[in-house]
Amino acid sequence: MVRMGTVGLGAWGWNVTRNFAELKGCRVAACFDLDPQKRDAATSNWPGIHAVDSFEKLLRHDIDAVAIASPANTHYEFTRMALLSGRDVFVEKPFTLNVRHAEELGELADKLNRVLMVGHLLEYHPVVHRLKTLISSGELGPIYYIYSQRVNLGRIRGDENALWSFAPHDVSQILFLLGMEPTNVSARGQSYIQDGIEDVVFLSLFFDNRIMAHIHLSWLDPHKVRRTTIVGQNKMAVFDDAETTE
Ligand SMILES: NC(=O)c1ccc[n+]([C@@H]2O[C@H](COP(=O)([O-])OP(=O)(O)OC[C@H]3O[C@@H](n4cnc5c(N)ncnc54)[C@H](O)[C@@H]3O)[C@@H](O)[C@H]2O)c1
Repeated sequence: MVRMGTVGLGAWGWNVTRNFAELKGCRVAACFDLDPQKRDAATSNWPGIHAVDSFEKLLRHDIDAVAIASPANTHYEFTRMALLSGRDVFVEKPFTLNVRHAEELGELADKLNRVLMVGHLLEYHPVVHRLKTLISSGELGPIYYIYSQRVNLGRIRGDENALWSFAPHDVSQILFLLGMEPTNVSARGQSYIQDGIEDVVFLSLFFDNRIMAHIHLSWLDPHKVRRTTIVGQNKMAVFDDAETTE
C-alpha cells in the first residue's frame, strides 16, 4: 500500500487527490492546502485524511510519496523538500519555471534514488500512443512537420504565462512522438491583460532531418482548440482532443 500526501486542493489538485484516493493499492494519508476551506472540504470528502496547513507538517506524516498540484511557483521548493525527505514525487506541469531548477531536481532524484514524475499526461493518452505507433511503424512515412494549437478563452493565470501553462503538454507530446530533442527552439509571445505575463505564445522547435514543430498557445482566443497535426511523407494524422465523439 503506497501512502500518499497531496499538495494543492484547487481545481486540478482536487482531481489529483481524488484519483490517488480511488487508486487500488494507494491511500491518501494527508493533504496540504493554504486555504482552510479547501482543507475542510477535503476532510469531509475523504474521512480519515489529515488536512494540514504547512508542507513541513505534511512531510511529518507517515507517507511514501508526495503529489504536488499547487501553483507553478511552488513546485521547485516543494519537490526539493519532498525528495530530500526521502519521498517519491509526482509533480504537476509545469515542472519548474526554469531549466536550472529542473536539472537540479532530476539530479537530486537520481542521487537519492527516488522516483520523480512530472504530470505530462499526454504521454499516457491512448491516441498519442496510436500516433506513436503510426510514426514508428513507418505508416506516415518520414515526418516532415508537426503543429499544434492549444487555445481557448480563459482561465487567465497570474503566476505563469500561457507558455508555462499549456506548452508542457504539447512539448512533451511532440518529444514523445518524435523520440528526439530539438536542436533549436524559439518562442515569441505578448502580454495584453497582465504586464509581463504572456497571454499568447508561438513556439517553434527545429529537429534533425529538417523536422519542424510549431505550437500556438493562448488563453485569449475565441476558439477552444486542442489539436495536433502530423504531416508525413506518405500520410497525415490529426489528433483533435476537443472532439469527444471520435
Ligand atoms: N495536467 C493538467 O492538465 C493540468 C490542468 C490544470 C492544472 N494543472 C496544474 O496543476 C497545478 C494547480 O492548478 P490548479 O488549476 O488546481 O490551480 P488552482 O489555483 O485552482 O489551485 C491551487 C491551489 O493551491 C493552493 N495553494 C496556493 N499556494 C499554495 C502554497 N504555497 N502551498 C499550498 N497550497 C497552495 C490554493 O489555495 C489552491 O487551492 C498547476 O501547476 C497547474 O498548471 C495541470
